[in-house]
Amino acid sequence: MAAIAVYSLKGGVGKTTLTVNLAWASAVQSSRRTLLWDLDPQAASSWILGDDKPGKDDAQAVFAKDIAPERLVRATGIDRLSLLPADVSLRSLDRFFFDLGKRKRLARLIEMLGRDYDRILLDCPPGLTETSDQVMRAAEVIVVPVIPSPLARRALDEVATHLSREHGKHAPILPVFTMVDRRRALHRAALDEQPDWPVIPMASTIEAMAVHHAPVGAFAPNSPGAQAFGALWTGIERRLTKPR
Ligand SMILES: Nc1ncnc2c1ncn2[C@@H]1O[C@H](COP(=O)(O)OP(=O)(O)O)[C@@H](O)[C@H]1O
Ligand SMILES: [Mg+2]
Repeated sequence: MAAIAVYSLKGGVGKTTLTVNLAWASAVQSSRRTLLWDLDPQAASSWILGDDKPGKDDAQAVFAKDIAPERLVRATGIDRLSLLPADVSLRSLDRFFFDLGKRKRLARLIEMLGRDYDRILLDCPPGLTETSDQVMRAAEVIVVPVIPSPLARRALDEVATHLSREHGKHAPILPVFTMVDRRRALHRAALDEQPDWPVIPMASTIEAMAVHHAPVGAFAPNSPGAQAFGALWTGIERRLTKPR
């Protein structure tokens, strides 16, 4: 089992979009038993994957060990892809982790879930917080979406600095350019500077996920967007299965 976090200091940079599509690629393209764990109280990936029924707001109770995570897991309608949905209770998760003082609670829960899943994708809330610290202790790789701009680069550098300061030897960071528009000079310049980073194009097909309530692979498998997510996932799989 491996946990893959999709994380950024910033909001609105494409974390949820990446998480949902990578989870789809894991389940469908790689036939992995896959769980998407939505840790963001905005619950965007839960919503895209069809979890729009009002629940009991017990997502946070999993961390208190009041509820076994398996009990909140839902099917998604996509073979081998399950969802552990978010809800508003996660708004106080940072304070909860702080009071709890157990720095590896998320990592332990993920280890337990590893009996049932091969790949666990984490859709993370933005910010450098108690929650992100838990995530960084639990993940095998940290995928960081970066919109090509100097500000986004700065946010990425901040994360890298924080990681080496607080976590010493930490999981590798995999930066990914998102919402790339090659007609823009600034975007082209950023890509030229980091030619090795994977690229997800800006595309209306990708935006349409919110309309279809589905990953792009499910409704537009041959679109450039779906191809880009697929290629990115192949690269992540290669990294995860590479002998160390
Ligand atoms: N590659 C893309 N092309 C077009 N729209 C995108 C792309 N990636 C994300 N978006 C849109 O940008 C907005 C923010 O993306 P989202 O994945 O929700 O970001 P985050 O989870 O980081 O807040 C959403 O409306 C989403 O549909
Ligand atoms: Mg999001």
